[in-house]
Amino acid sequence: MTVRFGVLGAGRIGQVHARAVASVPGARLVAVADPVAEAARRVADAWGCDIRSIEEIEKSGDVDAVIICTPTDTHADLIERFVRAGKAVFCEKPVDLSLSRVRDCLKVVADTKATLMVGFQRRFDPDFRALKAAIDEGTVGQVEMVTLTSRDPGPPPLDYIKRSGGIFRDMTIHDFDVARWLLGEEVETVQAAASVLTDPEIGKAGDYDSVNVILATASGRQCTITNTRRATYGYDQRIEVHGSKGSVAAENHHQSRVIVANGTGYTRPPLLDFFMTRYVAAYAAEIAAFVEAVEQGTPTPTTGEDGLRALALADAALKSVAEGRVVKVSEVLGG
Ligand SMILES: NC(=O)c1ccc[n+]([C@@H]2O[C@H](COP(=O)([O-])OP(=O)(O)OC[C@H]3O[C@@H](n4cnc5c(N)ncnc54)[C@H](O)[C@@H]3O)[C@@H](O)[C@H]2O)c1
Repeated sequence: MTVRFGVLGAGRIGQVHARAVASVPGARLVAVADPVAEAARRVADAWGCDIRSIEEIEKSGDVDAVIICTPTDTHADLIERFVRAGKAVFCEKPVDLSLSRVRDCLKVVADTKATLMVGFQRRFDPDFRALKAAIDEGTVGQVEMVTLTSRDPGPPPLDYIKRSGGIFRDMTIHDFDVARWLLGEEVETVQAAASVLTDPEIGKAGDYDSVNVILATASGRQCTITNTRRATYGYDQRIEVHGSKGSVAAENHHQSRVIVANGTGYTRPPLLDFFMTRYVAAYAAEIAAFVEAVEQGTPTPTTGEDGLRALALADAALKSVAEGRVVKVSEVLGG
């Protein structure tokens, strides 16, 4: 069986997913939709698919699944529309900026019994998967402390930031998901600090650009996350997990593995420049996992519930910054 795809939104991540679909056996890109004609044309020309409107894709008998790559504030409405139209849905993070809206949306998904996968591609990165496998095999014993470093080379456009829900819901949300995945226990408390250090315009837009977060689980396992929207040396993505028997780490990806040594020291090429290059294999693997779930009718490896939980951690971090205290996740999640 071939899963036939429509991509909704042909911006930064839409182009990435169109390429991922083209690279996955059992997946075929049929159509792309974007109100910006030039954006849709770029994807259609690159991958040889139709340009259709959202309404046309909704009614298309030759589209089995859609990938939602539109701005965040359109996701929940589009998920509901497309699951009601009988399509399997892969949606980029976050599902929405409001927990109650996410809950309502997930109820519609459950009622239609549709397939929904939320895009947390880091879980599919080959290095991070190997790190997780090492943990699961007991190599480092009991997980005690997780350290996540995620630094973007530069900020997205201000218009994007204004619609993004802020750094915790837009950027740290990936780290929140990775933290849940690696800690192996749900997070109970969140403590965060946030500043504007790289560009005052980000502050004027109501957001932060530099944040640190400490998460703790009921048994006391901890995770430290450090994020900034500016790193002069490229896209800095590292994980270290310290356990009772040792530690396991995933290092950065450089443009090549060549290291030159001479009398002045050691030099190596810069880091890969951003998510579009660093996570190519991860994006392809997550689409392959989605295709497998659609074909087999099995649960997706990342779910709407994962989207909800990561958003709750983002909301708790925001509350922690606003109130200057440690916040229990139950305060934002209820229960
Ligand atoms: N998983 C990741 O690594 C990752 C990376 C970047 C962005 N994202 C997420 O993907 C989403 C899009 O981000 P982006 O950086 O690609 O944004 P972007 O601004 O580059 O692209 C969004 C595109 O959607 C189009 N669009 C707007 N409304 C539309 C509609 N109703 N129907 C169809 N197209 C529409 C815009 O014209 C634009 O081309 C965001 O929710 C973001 O959080 C995820």
